[in-house]
Amino acid sequence: MAALKRLFRILFDRAEAFFDFAFGQQLNPFAWLGALGWFFFWIVAGSGVYLYIFFDTGITDAYASLEYITHEQWYLAGVMRSLHRYASDALVVVVVLHLLREFSLDRLRGKRFFAWITGVPSIFFIYICGISGYWLVWDQLAQYIAIATAEWLDAMPIFAEPIANNFLNSTTLGGRFFTLMVFIHIFVPLFMLLLMWVHIQRHAHARVNPPRPLAIGTALMLLVLSLLRPAVSQAPADLDVVPGELGFDWFYLVAYPFLDTIPGGQLWLFIAAGFLLLTLMPWLPPAKPSRPAIVSLDNCNGCGRCFDDCPFAAITLVPRSDGKAYDAEAAVNVDNCVSCGLCVGSCPTATPFRRATAIVPGIELPDHPIAGLREDSLAAATRFGDGPRVLVYACEHCGMNAVNADDTQVLTMPCVAMLPPSFVDFALSRGLADGVVLAGCASGDCNYRLGDTWTSQRLEGQRDPYLRNRVDRGRLRHLHLRATSARQRFRQLENFKAALTDLPRNEPKGSQRDA
Ligand code: HEM
Ligand code: SF4
Ligand code: SF4
Repeated sequence: MAALKRLFRILFDRAEAFFDFAFGQQLNPFAWLGALGWFFFWIVAGSGVYLYIFFDTGITDAYASLEYITHEQWYLAGVMRSLHRYASDALVVVVVLHLLREFSLDRLRGKRFFAWITGVPSIFFIYICGISGYWLVWDQLAQYIAIATAEWLDAMPIFAEPIANNFLNSTTLGGRFFTLMVFIHIFVPLFMLLLMWVHIQRHAHARVNPPRPLAIGTALMLLVLSLLRPAVSQAPADLDVVPGELGFDWFYLVAYPFLDTIPGGQLWLFIAAGFLLLTLMPWLPPAKPSRPAIVSLDNCNGCGRCFDDCPFAAITLVPRSDGKAYDAEAAVNVDNCVSCGLCVGSCPTATPFRRATAIVPGIELPDHPIAGLREDSLAAATRFGDGPRVLVYACEHCGMNAVNADDTQVLTMPCVAMLPPSFVDFALSRGLADGVVLAGCASGDCNYRLGDTWTSQRLEGQRDPYLRNRVDRGRLRHLHLRATSARQRFRQLENFKAALTDLPRNEPKGSQRDA
């Protein structure tokens, strides 16, 4: 499984690097696949509602109403029909890519299983919506789907009467099934919306809207495609005639050609096994347990910044339990906490400047205590040689390994957003280094979803706790590069060192250990 993940990661990395080049990191569609899923869902829903105004839901008139939509009102309803179809296809593409990408990034194991196992059934519902949609056109493709699906369902010992009997010829055909399909095609999407909402319940600030330029660009692409290649019906269904050659939608109907070679029962078994395997993925193999964040009530003032910044909705603010004069205190839901440390970076009490007593912030990760990070920073400062001394605080996932060199010392942590900005101030005001680098994942690609955004906002003074103005920005670099961009990272570090040689040496100040 690990080798498969690595393979997908290499493939995604290549594709993402190309899209970075074409669109820039912020608008790279690969970083917005889930949000694009929502976006296409809304296009499908909106165009569907419009089509429903003109669509005749009776089996005898459905085809004619779609012909009216496509040819008589091609400029609006016709375009809506095409948008409806192409956005549905795009939904399949982004959801499959989204699944593979989350798998390649290993964002499914341990406490992150929830989004995965709620995502899996959405595939099933997307297919039910799509297949029932093709059925409603009641053309020859719909006839093929109706008969093939009925025979396929009959392979399961569920129905007392074979449902394929409904489609033997035009005299046996009743409107019953058609009405059922209309019902399914309208209500399953509503259920899917509910599932999509559940899917992101463990995500705070879930990104359900792609950035505007990306949304406008993709919508325009669909529109142009709709105008150039409008969706049309095939010849009307006629159960007395076997359909000839059919235009096929491989996105939704990919399973059907297999029915020619594999018995329907076996195909059900393959599909069920596939879904079971997908559902079990988060435990193949199980993740090593990580110790969740802990709150120290003695130091928590209930300010709520950790609550605002936790990407996994793992923190709640609850009424004060220790009688202190604050309204609230932070409480960690250990089932949701993935030990990313973003809450530590947000806590105003997590500062290296205090030293009278041991540093214990309001919230911290037991495996990465803030006091330890302060000690490591001080120790790193003693290992530098003469050159421009660069202290790097790096995220474990960004591809920057621990380096112990004369001019570069790298300290790693689960996410660079775990570092409270006061550490940058501390390192530079104490002269621990000539320059500080914060190395994280590419924009929009943080392993813990929001680390790159929070770090940028804290450094730019847009989010508490922000970096104090007194910090010389010329001595600070924030790198957000893909894990595989080793050469670019090296080049940027070298450029930074070169820039630091133009600045006076940041001499160590007094006793670096004191506050
Ligand atoms: C209708 C289909 C789907 C939509 C609209 C959708 C949408 C989303 C969105 C908006 C996010 C949050 C992105 C963020 O804010 O960082 C997300 C996360 C995620 N989705 Fe989906 N998703 C869908 C289907 C799936 C499927 C089929 C799977 C896999 C089986 C899946 C697995 C995940 C995972 C693993 C995460 C990230 C969890 C984490 O960061 O811990 N999703 N999805
Ligand atoms: S950020 Fe720190 S002080 Fe504020 S509520 Fe969270 S733990 Fe308490
Ligand atoms: S470490 Fe903190 S920010 Fe990260 S999931 Fe746990 S509580 Fe949330």
